[in-house]
This record gives sequence, C-alpha cells and structure tokens, in this order.
Amino acid sequence: MEEAAPGNGPFPTEDALAEFLERARTTLTANDVGDFVKPGRYQYPHQWNWDAALVAMGLSHFDEARARKEVRSLLRGQWLDGMIPHVVYHNGSSDYFPGPDFWEIEQSVAAPPGVHTSGLIQPPLLATCVRRMHRRAHDREASLDFIREVYPALLRWHRWLHRARDPEGTGLVAIVHPWESGTDNAARFVQALMQVTPSQVPAYQRRDSRHVSEEERPQHADYERFVYLIDRFRHWGYDPEIMYARSPFLVQDTLFNAVAYQAHEDLIALAEEIGEPTSEIERWRFRLRRAYNNKLWDDEEGLYFAYDARHHQAVRENGVATFMALYAGLADRAQAEVLVGAHLENPEEYAPDAHSRFRVPSQAKNNYFYEPRRYWRGPVWILINWMVMQGLERYGYRELAEQVRQDSLALMASAGFFEYYDPRDGTPAGASDFSWSAALALELVEPLPLAAAR
Ligand code: GLC
Repeated sequence: MEEAAPGNGPFPTEDALAEFLERARTTLTANDVGDFVKPGRYQYPHQWNWDAALVAMGLSHFDEARARKEVRSLLRGQWLDGMIPHVVYHNGSSDYFPGPDFWEIEQSVAAPPGVHTSGLIQPPLLATCVRRMHRRAHDREASLDFIREVYPALLRWHRWLHRARDPEGTGLVAIVHPWESGTDNAARFVQALMQVTPSQVPAYQRRDSRHVSEEERPQHADYERFVYLIDRFRHWGYDPEIMYARSPFLVQDTLFNAVAYQAHEDLIALAEEIGEPTSEIERWRFRLRRAYNNKLWDDEEGLYFAYDARHHQAVRENGVATFMALYAGLADRAQAEVLVGAHLENPEEYAPDAHSRFRVPSQAKNNYFYEPRRYWRGPVWILINWMVMQGLERYGYRELAEQVRQDSLALMASAGFFEYYDPRDGTPAGASDFSWSAALALELVEPLPLAAAR
C-alpha cells in the first residue's frame, strides 16, 4: 500500500484527487435505491439511522435536494413518541436478517402506521449532520425552510432519548442492546452481554456472513444474545418504561452519550437559526456533561469507560470510544492531555508501531479483545477516524488530526470504500462500496472549519 506523502496526501496529482472524489460520489449514487441510499452495495439493503445521517451529509456535497430527501426518508420511520429507529425498511423484506417482520413493532402503541422499522435506536448523529448540511448549503433559503421543517422532529427525538432512556434523571442516556451503540460487538459490551442468559431464543437464520467472511463478523454467542434481547423487547411491546426497568442489558455508553452531547450542541445551533428556545437542550447538556465526567472518567487509567447500569459497574475496556469525549468537547484540558499523550499516541495502544501502520484501531492493540480484522474489535473505521480527527482539532492537536485524516484518505484511495480496514497493513474488510466511508471521503477532502464551541 502507498504511503501517504505529507502535503498532498495519497493524491499525487489534481487528477488523482478528482478521480477519487468522483468514485466517492458514484459509490453513493450507485447505492441509491430511490427513497434512500443503502449503507453498502450487498451487505445492508435497508436504511440505517446514523448511516442515513452521514449519507445525507455526503450527498449534500453535490446534491442538496437529494440530501434533504435522505433525511425526510429516515424521519418517515419516526415513532409516534419521537423515537427514530435504527433501521427503516422502506422496501419490504430482503435477504437481510433481521427483516421487517421479525421486530413485530405492531406490538407497540407508538409504532408508526404503515412503515416497517426496527424497535431499537442508534447514536443520534442526525442533528449534527443536518447542521453541517446547513452550514455548507448554497441554497440558503431552501436549507432554512428545511430546518424549519425537520427541527420539531429532531427535538422530539432528543427529548425521547432523555425521557425514555434516562427516566431516573442521571444525565446519561442508556442503551438496551449493543446494536444501539452502532458498534455492535465492541469489547466494552462483552461483560454486560455475557451476563445476559439467553433462553428460548426464537429460531432465526443469520445472514450476515453471506457476503462477508465469518472471522470479520460477530461471534455466535453474541448473536444468540442479540436475538434474545429483541425477543424480550417485542414481548414487552417496546414499552420504554419496561425496557428501561427490565432489560437485562442496560449500558450508559461513552460513544452514544458523546454523540448525543455533540448533537445537542448542533440542535441548539439549529434552534437559534430559526428562533426557537434552547433552554431545555442546554439543561440536557449541562447534566450530561456533569454525569459523563463524574461517572465515566477513570482517573487512575486516564480513560473514559462505559458504565453497566444494570450491574452498577464500570466496564474497564480500553477502546476507541474513550476518545469520543474529545469529539464532543466533554473533556477538560488535563483529561485531553492524558487521553492523547498516554493513550492515542502510545504505540502499544493506538499509535502505529512495527506491526501496525494505520490510525486509529477501534480497540487498543494491547487490549485482551483486540482482533485486527473483526468488526468493532480492532479494525479502523472511517467514521471513528472522522470523529477522532475533529476531537483532536478541537483541542488543538492539529498535526495529529492531519495524520488521522491522511491515514483515512490513504486507506480509501488505495483499497476503495470499505466498511473497515485492518490497521496492520490497511487491507480492506467487511462490506465493499460502503456508503458512509464514501460520504466521509467527501467530508475529509473538504472539511468544514470547526464551529465555535459553546
Ligand atoms: C452495522 C454497524 C452499524 C451500522 C450498520 C449499517 O450494524 O455496526 O453501525 O449502522 O452496520 O451500516
């Protein structure tokens, strides 16, 4: 694989760069099935929540109207109580498991009529991407109209997160299933997941290893528990109160809450654009920040850890989600210095060494669970790199941010837009023609300047 040359990165000429950008745009348009853009050409045939947010942001680089349509499509799946589900099945079933019928969302009084969706959520990245679309928009009027149109739905979504997933008022939003984290099999969920005892797991046929090899996907024991949890939720009619009170899996996650915190900031910016009040959102932010640092920061290790709220214990696994506090601006200066100096720059954990060339592995390399080709257990993900890069810029680590950006571009330039990459040598893994990688390629080549932090 080509080394990223400093300065012009992996693109020796203007033509090479133009060709790369064209490939990114074509990846998105080729995955466009009309109502929505599929996350990947073969692996993911429906609309996923945070993928759609990223795809819309990518599309807005070259087709603002189509980008807005992507957001509207996702919002069609919004539940009556404000929840935006993790998958919307616009096109009925496919060979993907779980399909629309598996969820039985009609058991819920809040399910949206006439739309098939899942009954789980994903990290609330949407307000962040909508704000970025707006900052970039050429057609200012159309963009402002769009914000007026979608703002109420976004606000209801954020309100749902706090009401349904923090009924005790801890300040942190909980997830009830590892899929809700967006990082399905990350090591920080193992401990909580292993305490779930599956029984009478309904029959199901896994389909995720058809297009991608087994050792790059979650393991069987995880999958049994994934399915068991969903079976419980549908049995409870997806009642948020029961799910929070009884789900055997209940985690206050570092990545999820950091994404929410940043999205609150972006929602406030959108509210200000259209003259809406912001005090409710400010309150969520204030409480989330306080709880995030009180509960998730481990001063001894100098890391943020997820918290298993069902068993009342921190999950002491060192994974890349620890840096999301930088992305969202949740860390103070001293915490940032430890996170970067002692961990991100440590070759035993995240920095390149003789065996591993690319930033940023999703699991610390010296963590017990590290596997460089297995999904969220080690591979480099472009989305994660994009968030780490923003965090580094936010705290003034410009050079390191630039290295993360260059690594990301180099991986995609030489291997194509894959779902994830082996940090050792950059070989691609997972789904090919992966939409959010392509969307983020556009974003990484033409980054927006940092917005003024609040
Ligand atoms: C996997 C990922 C999740 C993503 C989905 C579709 O489930 O873990 O983050 O949204 O695939 O790409």
